[in-house]
Amino acid sequence: MEIIIQKKVSEAVKTLYGKDIDINHVQVEETRKDFEGDFTIIVYPLIKCSKNTPEKTAEEIGQYLIKNLQGVSGFNVIKGFLNLNIADNWWVKFFKEFSLQGNLFEPCKVKNPETIMVEYSSPNTNKPLHLGHIRNNLLGFSLYHLLKSCGHNAIKTNIVNDRGIHICKSMLAWVKFGNGETPASSGIKGDHLVGKYYVMFENAYKAEVDNLVSKGIDEETARQTAPLMLEARDMLRKWEAGDREVVNIWRMMNKWVYEGFDETYKKLGVDFDRIYYESETYKDGKELVMKALNKGLLYKRDDGSVWADLTGEGLDQKVLLRSDGTAVYITQDIGTAVARQNDYKFDKCIYVVGNEQNYHFQVLKAILKKMGFNWADGLIHFSYGMVELPEGKMKSREGTVVDADDLIEEMIQTAREVSLELGKLEGFTQTEKKEIFRKVGLGALKYFILKVDPKKNMLFNPAESIDFNGNTGPFIQYTYARIKSVMRKAAQNSIVSDPKLLELAIPNAKEINLIKILRRFATVVSEAAKSYNPSLIANYCYELAREFNQYYHDYTILGEKDEIIRNFRLLLSERISYVLNEAMWLLGIEMPERM
Ligand code: ARG
Repeated sequence: MEIIIQKKVSEAVKTLYGKDIDINHVQVEETRKDFEGDFTIIVYPLIKCSKNTPEKTAEEIGQYLIKNLQGVSGFNVIKGFLNLNIADNWWVKFFKEFSLQGNLFEPCKVKNPETIMVEYSSPNTNKPLHLGHIRNNLLGFSLYHLLKSCGHNAIKTNIVNDRGIHICKSMLAWVKFGNGETPASSGIKGDHLVGKYYVMFENAYKAEVDNLVSKGIDEETARQTAPLMLEARDMLRKWEAGDREVVNIWRMMNKWVYEGFDETYKKLGVDFDRIYYESETYKDGKELVMKALNKGLLYKRDDGSVWADLTGEGLDQKVLLRSDGTAVYITQDIGTAVARQNDYKFDKCIYVVGNEQNYHFQVLKAILKKMGFNWADGLIHFSYGMVELPEGKMKSREGTVVDADDLIEEMIQTAREVSLELGKLEGFTQTEKKEIFRKVGLGALKYFILKVDPKKNMLFNPAESIDFNGNTGPFIQYTYARIKSVMRKAAQNSIVSDPKLLELAIPNAKEINLIKILRRFATVVSEAAKSYNPSLIANYCYELAREFNQYYHDYTILGEKDEIIRNFRLLLSERISYVLNEAMWLLGIEMPERM
């Protein structure tokens, strides 16, 4: 419709004012919510042709369209905006095409697809995943689906920060206090076991520091000289030197962690096309730094450490290699970025990382550009806010984290309780029920997190997230299952729907409104992909589900006597369930066929 309107407006300008105007310069949008109409033409750019006021120009073009464009049933003018009303029969025609359309994402395809890597998850290997990682994984996974659906060559990637002082701390504690404990011997999931030793290190280390402080040593010196810290540093140096014993322990413990992570990813339903490991890229990073140093792009301080001076870019001085030559966090990011560019020649690389690392990513881009990598312009930090539980702040060090596995389990458990309470699940087998609890529990968790603007900090409220009547995943899942049940009943009663009869139907206002919402699907997907904002999809699903529920409450579908209307309602419901399913898939949420 937009294109037809553009053409007609260009024709109107030619006829009315004798001027040629390229149809791509005619701006047509969907009318904003607070105004009356379906499509809006922005008239301001046209007044140079009409040599008249915006109001007068809009009025003239509006009159022209009413006479010359079928489907336009009325218009109103607000300043330089010409709002068009589209006739009901046009919407019905649209719905007919839409209900036959095989791939809903066809209209979302971009003209110039890009190669876009989406990095998400990116855990450290010293402890299990937590609630923050859940938000991270959900955002990254959904962003990937959005970009892919719009025709981009999207690649899911992950960087595992598997080396450094943090993992040495877990290793050291295991060597000292572990007595050879393994996931198999203890029955503890690998990442949790390693996390347990990390906490053990922190506690023992804190005791040492306290002890030193009580002897009159100042806090900072105590932290630097506590025996456990010295030993951990020694272990890191040995690791970088390739010491066999240390490397073997590191391999073994990392393997435990990966097996644990894999389980969590699987439960969460996320995966990756390519995983990078810091242990494999940090050396490239070091080399790149040395090369840039030799070219005079970086500088060395007296203690031997290597620095980038970014004051010209409005940033700070940044250390890239410590005085003992070891790599820091950003060193591996330099190596990883270059490896990814070599492997995939990406146009963009989107880092899904919390907003506490905003500065880090500014610095990373500035350093890569300083090194002469112009593609670094395509590095984008998708910075999201923090997520907390209502009880209080999430902490990552002291073991009071909201653990991802625990939370997922709890959500499934809550889904079970709520469903049983509602008594909805008679006649289901044990296996079917389990599947429903899993889908509902995860649907609640994912939807609640994704419906929030990624930039904002948020509270995750488990009880609210699973409310079947709110703006929640289960509400949308329930709406979907409801439609599916209508469709099953139709099939049982041999009621077949026929798209050919659609155009004979005269829909009521609620039905027209539902068609209008369906039509917005492609626009919302494109918008969400462009603005990296899955919450637009979530809120779209809610609007569609809510409107459908009200409609379903007011009208009967299978009980309708008029065959043409019943046919139309059945097809409308069917399409709504289809759109809901596809939209929720973009969020990584599975829909139960019945619940
Ligand atoms: N592992 C890091 C952390 O837990 C996050 C890594 C983010 N990605 C990156 N390319 N630096 O803080």
